[in-house]
Amino acid sequence: MVNTLSKPAKEELKSNPQALIQETILTPRFYTTDFEVAANLDLSLQETALKAMLEEMRTDYNRHHFVRDEAFEQTWEHLDEQTRNCFIDYLERSCVSEFSGFLLFKELSRSLKQRNPLLAEIFHLMARDEARHAGFLNKAMGDFNRSLDLARLTKTRTYTFFPLEWVIYTVYLSEKIGYWRYIIIYRHLEKHPEHQFYPLFRYFESWCQDENRHGDIFKALLRSQPKLWNNWKARLWSRFFLLSVFATHSLTVQERAGFYHSLGLDATEFDEQVIRQTNETAARAFPAVLNVDHPEFFPRMQRCAKRNLKLKAISENNFPKVVKFLQKLPLLGGIFWDLFRLYLIKPIDAEALRGTVR
Ligand SMILES: [Fe+2]
Ligand SMILES: [Fe+2]
Repeated sequence: MVNTLSKPAKEELKSNPQALIQETILTPRFYTTDFEVAANLDLSLQETALKAMLEEMRTDYNRHHFVRDEAFEQTWEHLDEQTRNCFIDYLERSCVSEFSGFLLFKELSRSLKQRNPLLAEIFHLMARDEARHAGFLNKAMGDFNRSLDLARLTKTRTYTFFPLEWVIYTVYLSEKIGYWRYIIIYRHLEKHPEHQFYPLFRYFESWCQDENRHGDIFKALLRSQPKLWNNWKARLWSRFFLLSVFATHSLTVQERAGFYHSLGLDATEFDEQVIRQTNETAARAFPAVLNVDHPEFFPRMQRCAKRNLKLKAISENNFPKVVKFLQKLPLLGGIFWDLFRLYLIKPIDAEALRGTVR
């Protein structure tokens, strides 16, 4: 049976669209930045690359891609409850994350219009893509009688401020990790069509090319600012953001292991593959990347993910708050310690590899 919302839940959703999203530290956030700094960026070092990217964006390769075909015209009542619940959770978080990109790019485009027309148009076209992605996911949620009121979400959700430098590092990484997530699922289902339980995944091949282009635009932005890659601080920040994005990925993938299982994927293998590929890609933009081949890298990362699952179980138990806090403390300490040790692993000098990296 399709999991329809009860009447009170519908009412709650109407008044509070966030009700559906279980807020945790891993829930995708909305960001804002210093638009003044963005308007004053000197892009001369990468102007040719950015103009070429703008031409690609104007071509709009996916103009006709996000159209639902007849494969969507059926009911999904045959999906078992676990598959359906994991999938809805995946759709919700993906939709919020795509929509978060749309809002940031739209705001950047609007605020740069008069002062940096090149960047303003690029951000406008990226916002176009993200709106399509979010809209397509929201329609998929509609097939399961769910929907996010995106207009309301825009007004009610809190925005996190990130300095522009952080935005450049993190958006670059989230676009590239997004590319690898989509393409790895797509290629897996190409080989194992029997696991394609819903038609959305067939759209991932062209979809991920949008994310790849967005990542390339942010790579050009990053390389246009030497202070973001040619000094020791940039190396420390690069490692920090790589580790944060990879840790968030590992923890989320393990929380959603049921979803990957229903696609016939092993969550741990998928997680490792995505991290390896994204780290290798990042070596083309970042001055330093993580040594994911270090024998401690994945074991420590996976231990963090396991501890996070225990934290989640504690949050859901019925003990008093203070007991929960005491139960959580050693787990939080353990996660912090593992991440700290991961940060200290000697990184790979990507600048030295420049020109030899694929
Ligand atoms: Fe997207
Ligand atoms: Fe994107």
